[in-house]
Amino acid sequence: MLVSNRDLLAPARTRAYAVGAFNISNLESLLAVTEAAVEEKSPVIVAATPSAIKYGGLSYLAKMVRTAAESSLVPMSLHLDHGSDFEMVSKCVAAGFTSVMIDGSFLTFEQNVALTKRVVDLAHPKGVSVEAELGRLAGVEEKTVEEKEAVLTDPETAREFVENSCVDALAVAIGTSHGAYKFKTEPKLDFERLRSISEKVDVPLVLHGASSVPAWIIEKASRYGAELKGAKGIPEEHIQKAISLGIAKINIDTDLRLAFTATVREVLTNSPKEFDPRKILGPAKEAMKEVVKSKMRLFGSSGKA
Ligand code: G3H
Ligand code: 13P
Ligand code: ZN
Repeated sequence: MLVSNRDLLAPARTRAYAVGAFNISNLESLLAVTEAAVEEKSPVIVAATPSAIKYGGLSYLAKMVRTAAESSLVPMSLHLDHGSDFEMVSKCVAAGFTSVMIDGSFLTFEQNVALTKRVVDLAHPKGVSVEAELGRLAGVEEKTVEEKEAVLTDPETAREFVENSCVDALAVAIGTSHGAYKFKTEPKLDFERLRSISEKVDVPLVLHGASSVPAWIIEKASRYGAELKGAKGIPEEHIQKAISLGIAKINIDTDLRLAFTATVREVLTNSPKEFDPRKILGPAKEAMKEVVKSKMRLFGSSGKA
């Protein structure tokens, strides 16, 4: 059975661990996430963005994830990541998503509250939980956000936002960004800001743009021809500190994409005669699964299912 993020995140916040939200867009990524959750006995959030839905099809993805939840017996939610508008959210709720994010981070404060409240009014009667974002992350999403357009979350505004919108979880901007190029110099997150938001806001907090861009994956991908110069992510110690300060949901997409790509490149280079997709995508799925498992151990969610 699929459960909502509210059910998954309440114990995470009180017991100081975080539940990973892993982006999927096809069978291989879903199998990787599901098998990892089963092997780690971990609750898990399966996330799909509007562009993943456009790629895989809403009904295909929703039904595949429902099947995954039924056969895996770990607490799992199906979450719309970066829901772009009310219509998208409505379609996902109708298709059986158990959690939705409405990303009003491009709107004014008042417009963001109003849109989020409208989504809450649609979702809550159906048992679907809602995440919103305040502040704005830099990096690659459907539309690329330039560094100068990024805005960190103000703690007092966050308190007001949560009170007025009745949202269940809040994504905060504290210096992370989407994609593989998060820092030009040393990685730096604003932990004081996070501490202050955490004191003022009593819903679980969400960290987007949390991939670590592990050196070993970059090295492997580069060995087989990828061009990823300057790629840099969030150090694992920063992730652990963020969890201790109230982050209860952590979004990972880039590290799975990198693991997938590095492995496909490796197989194609080492086995030039291979043309069975299962022999190419199978190892790539295994590589994504190992990444997901290591995240679950890092986040402290292993053994919590
Ligand atoms: O924020 C989520 C992503 O990493 C971007 O995903 O390419 O599926 O829109 P997307
Ligand atoms: P990364 O690009 O760091 O994996 O972040 C993913 C994310 O925030 C999805 O919503
Ligand atoms: Zn995100």
